[in-house]
Amino acid sequence: MADVVIGLDLGTGGVRAIAVDLHGQLIAQTTKSYALLTPQPGWTEQKPSDWVEASLAALSDVVQQLGENRPIGLGLSGQMHGMVALDANGQAIRPAILWNDQRTGKAVAAIEATIPRQELIQRTGNPAITGFQLPKLVWLRTAEPQAYAQVQQILLPKDYLGYVLTGAAVTEPSDASGTGCLNLATRQWDTDILTALDLNLAWFPTVVASTAIAGHLKPEIATRVGLPNRLPVIAGGGDNAAAAIGLGISASNLNRGSLSIGTSGVIFAPCNRPVPDPAGRVHLFCHADGGYHLLGVTLAAGGSLRWYRDTLVPHISYPDLMELAARSPAGARNVLFLPHLAGERSPHLDPDARGSWANLSLAHTQADLIRAILEGVAFSLREALDVIHTITPLHQLLATGGGARSGVWLQILADVLQTELIAPQAEEGAAYGAAILAMVGVGAYANLETAFQILPQMSDVVQPKENSVYESAFQKYKRLYEALKVVRY
Ligand code: XUL
Repeated sequence: MADVVIGLDLGTGGVRAIAVDLHGQLIAQTTKSYALLTPQPGWTEQKPSDWVEASLAALSDVVQQLGENRPIGLGLSGQMHGMVALDANGQAIRPAILWNDQRTGKAVAAIEATIPRQELIQRTGNPAITGFQLPKLVWLRTAEPQAYAQVQQILLPKDYLGYVLTGAAVTEPSDASGTGCLNLATRQWDTDILTALDLNLAWFPTVVASTAIAGHLKPEIATRVGLPNRLPVIAGGGDNAAAAIGLGISASNLNRGSLSIGTSGVIFAPCNRPVPDPAGRVHLFCHADGGYHLLGVTLAAGGSLRWYRDTLVPHISYPDLMELAARSPAGARNVLFLPHLAGERSPHLDPDARGSWANLSLAHTQADLIRAILEGVAFSLREALDVIHTITPLHQLLATGGGARSGVWLQILADVLQTELIAPQAEEGAAYGAAILAMVGVGAYANLETAFQILPQMSDVVQPKENSVYESAFQKYKRLYEALKVVRY
């Protein structure tokens, strides 16, 4: 009989729960999905009750696989930025509004009219951004005043789940810094911002360290899922911070970050001080290790390739798409692709940006179109990395996510980013990081640095090759984005 910790990641597609022993070995895993609601173009919502049902089912599933192993803690992680508004009875007033929702343009403008953008960046690390939680609350006040009148508590997605599991309304800095109203220096709510916007500090949960115990499992939940009564639930981290913890990325090695190619593409750079980009072109959030991190996000990375496949070539498998891409030379014979199919975050903060191919001729082939998509995503990430490099060094990236399983795409990314990429041997994502945070939270390890010793060793290294074709294509890519602004409307 061994001690295990449970890690849970409340994602956008579904919830993943895993159990890990104290040597870092995966003992059990399961995923349960739920619906994404899009009630209007640009709106994305999910039902908090769907999250709860799926999470409880996932926990039961994991418990079934545990055999003699004994759970000693549960760590949380989840999609960032969302808003769950609760009434006086702790019930969700309306569906949760998600990280990729774009409805808050006017609220963003209203926030920046009250608190100048430079001051917001100085205090919170970021300007007001459509996907963040704070503009959602300001939107609710104007758009749904009846709902707003009932608000007693505002929670992030994983913290809502924690509240259901334990009864405690608690958050931690890595997720809270994605709301838009956490002061990065104090790692507590910025009361000046809340006062200026006439918002009630009491609605926001207590902020504790990411490795702190947020609460203990309620008896009725414990009985339902088969976990021990009063199991410690650890505050955990936002999905990007938790995934980084699962890869051992922390401020103790500033040279090493991560690159994730999932639906979105994300570059994560650890930092030991909260130094924002003065223009807010990349995000600055708290890390779950007590430090900070920069985050560059391109919204449609794997999402661009998935769009291409689902819309135009549903019969072709992803490995075959990659094989086709490999038949086109670097530079895709001058075809350029802007991957802004869902607007863009870094570095443009431009929800209205749109995607396109350019420079097509009769001579071009499907291989060129696909390669241009892979290269366009890499150029978008390069734009974010160039901003990150003005603040912190980053010489090596651990590459994760579905897109990083393609050797072709990895080499393109290494060459365009001019950075060494390492594909980790095993990659269990944010749930694994949540489990590591829980190990420290329950005292199985004294601190994160000690817990990192159990992480799997790194394997395949992809070295960047110099390629002048990419350099000149990247310059053209940047000009194309600027040029296409005029044909949007
Ligand atoms: C980060 C971001 C996403 C979400 C979704 O800023 O918006 O990575 O956390 O998982």
